[in-house]
Amino acid sequence: MTPSVNVVAIDGPAGAGKSTIARELAQVLKLPYLDTGAMYRGITCAVLRKGVDPSDDGAVAQLAVSTVLDISDDALLVDGIDATLDIRGEAVTRAVSSVAANSEVRRDLRERQRKWVSERGGGVVEGRDIATVVFPDARLKVFLTASPLVRAQRRVAQIGGDVEQIARDIAERDHKDSTRSDSPLRESENSILVDTSNRSIDDVVHQIVGVFHG
Ligand code: DC
Repeated sequence: MTPSVNVVAIDGPAGAGKSTIARELAQVLKLPYLDTGAMYRGITCAVLRKGVDPSDDGAVAQLAVSTVLDISDDALLVDGIDATLDIRGEAVTRAVSSVAANSEVRRDLRERQRKWVSERGGGVVEGRDIATVVFPDARLKVFLTASPLVRAQRRVAQIGGDVEQIARDIAERDHKDSTRSDSPLRESENSILVDTSNRSIDDVVHQIVGVFHG
């Protein structure tokens, strides 16, 4: 059995509802849940703590491979120090796209993600390149999307701020994530596309569970 057989890949841009839906889905399907964005954020947190320039590819790569990430459902420890709140803060959010564009970082985290899933026999894994690169043979691939306005409104509801500013920040991050040369954000050929804009979480989860079992 390949480790990806029991994998549900959830990809999509920021604010498409990935985390909420992936968590809920994992509960319903009784599979472990892995937020790979939190891993990129964790490395970014280490980079900022150490005062490394996020665009210094060599220094970032060197630091990344030696950074210990402890991931649980509700918390993330970076080198043993709690970073659960820091990884959602402005500084990390601003710098994470540069770190996520670093091929060495991606190679390292990809291996950690595969190991994490293989040790647990499967999982609901959310990110940007899960269906295209990390688990191309996932049992189910879902690409979530939502209108730019809805995505910005959701972020404001989570972290506060001005909708227009947040919409600009999201658009900038999406642009960086989908135009980088290494594993850019894009829909996988055999994924199902789900627009979450005007739908409830339960409705979307129900649809995905149906496809999973069907
Ligand atoms: O999903 P998120 O906003 O927490 O992701 C943080 C950043 O990490 C985002 O800029 C995209 C990047 N990322 C990635 O490149 N590949 C993944 N598998 C997950 C996240």
